[in-house]
Amino acid sequence: MLLENKIFVLTGNNGLLGTNMQNYLIAQGAMVIGLDIYQKNETNYNYICDITSEKHVDTAIEKINTQFGPINGWINNAYPRTEDWGMNVELVPYDSWKKNVDMHLNSYFMCSRKALHSMKGNKNGSLINIASIYGMQAPDFSVYEGTSIDNPVGYAAIKGGIINLTRYLAAYYGRYNLRANCVSPGGIFDNQDPIFVKNYEKKVPLKRMGNADDIAPAIAFLLSDGAKYITGQNIAVDGGWSVI
Ligand SMILES: NC(=O)c1ccc[n+]([C@@H]2O[C@H](COP(=O)([O-])OP(=O)(O)OC[C@H]3O[C@@H](n4cnc5c(N)ncnc54)[C@H](O)[C@@H]3O)[C@@H](O)[C@H]2O)c1
Repeated sequence: MLLENKIFVLTGNNGLLGTNMQNYLIAQGAMVIGLDIYQKNETNYNYICDITSEKHVDTAIEKINTQFGPINGWINNAYPRTEDWGMNVELVPYDSWKKNVDMHLNSYFMCSRKALHSMKGNKNGSLINIASIYGMQAPDFSVYEGTSIDNPVGYAAIKGGIINLTRYLAAYYGRYNLRANCVSPGGIFDNQDPIFVKNYEKKVPLKRMGNADDIAPAIAFLLSDGAKYITGQNIAVDGGWSVI
C-alpha cells in the first residue's frame, strides 16, 4: 500500500472532510492520529486537542512520539471559528475578526512550525495545510442570491494567508527535505440550501459540488513519496471553479 507504516497527524479529524481523510489514509496503510477539540470516539489514536493552545499541541506531539514514534506527515485541517462566524462583511465586529484570525491563521502557523520541527530529524516529511478556493480568489456573491448564506470575509484573509505562509515554509524547510503544500477544496456538498447548490453547480465546470471523498486522494498523494519533488504548491480540488 502507498502509505504503509507511515505516521500522520490530522487536525479536525472529526469534521466533514477530516472523517473522510482519516478513513482514506488508514485504508492506504497509514496510522493517522486525529487531534480534535471534540472526539466522537476518544481512542488511543484520536486525542482531544485544541489547536489554538500551544500547550495542547506540545503535549499531543510528545504523546505521539512516545506512543508511536517519529511523525512522517501532518495535515492542518481543523476549522476553528467563533459563533458569529459568517456575518456580512459590513457587520462583523472587529473583535470577532481578530479572534478568528487568531484561532485559525495563527494556529495553523503554530502547528505548522511545531510539525516541521518535529519532522526535522527524519530528513523527510510532508506538511499539508488545508486552504480554500476563497483563499485564492474572491467569492462570486451571485451564488448566494435568494439564500441566507454569506461568505465570511475573514476566510479570504485567513486562507489566503495560509497559502502564502505555506510557500514560505516550503522555501525555508526544503533544506531539511521537508515539504509543505496546500490543498484548496472548492465548495463541498453538505445539504446546503438547494438554491445555493443549484447556483453553484451551474457555475462550476464539472457541474457539481465537491464531496468529502474528492479531497482525501489529493492529500494521500502529497503525503506519499510520489510527491517527493513537490513543495510550496497549492492544489485546488474544486471541479475547475478557480480557473474560470
Ligand atoms: N467544507 C467545505 O466546503 C470546505 C471548502 C474549502 C475548504 N474547507 C476547509 O477544510 C477544512 C475542514 O473543513 P470541514 O468542512 O470538514 O469543517 P468541519 O466544521 O466539518 O470540521 C472541522 C473540525 O475541526 C474541529 N475543530 C474546530 N476547532 C478546533 C480547535 N480549536 N482545535 C481542534 N479542532 C478543532 C471541529 O471539532 C471539527 O471536527 C477546514 O480547514 C475548512 O476551512 C472546507
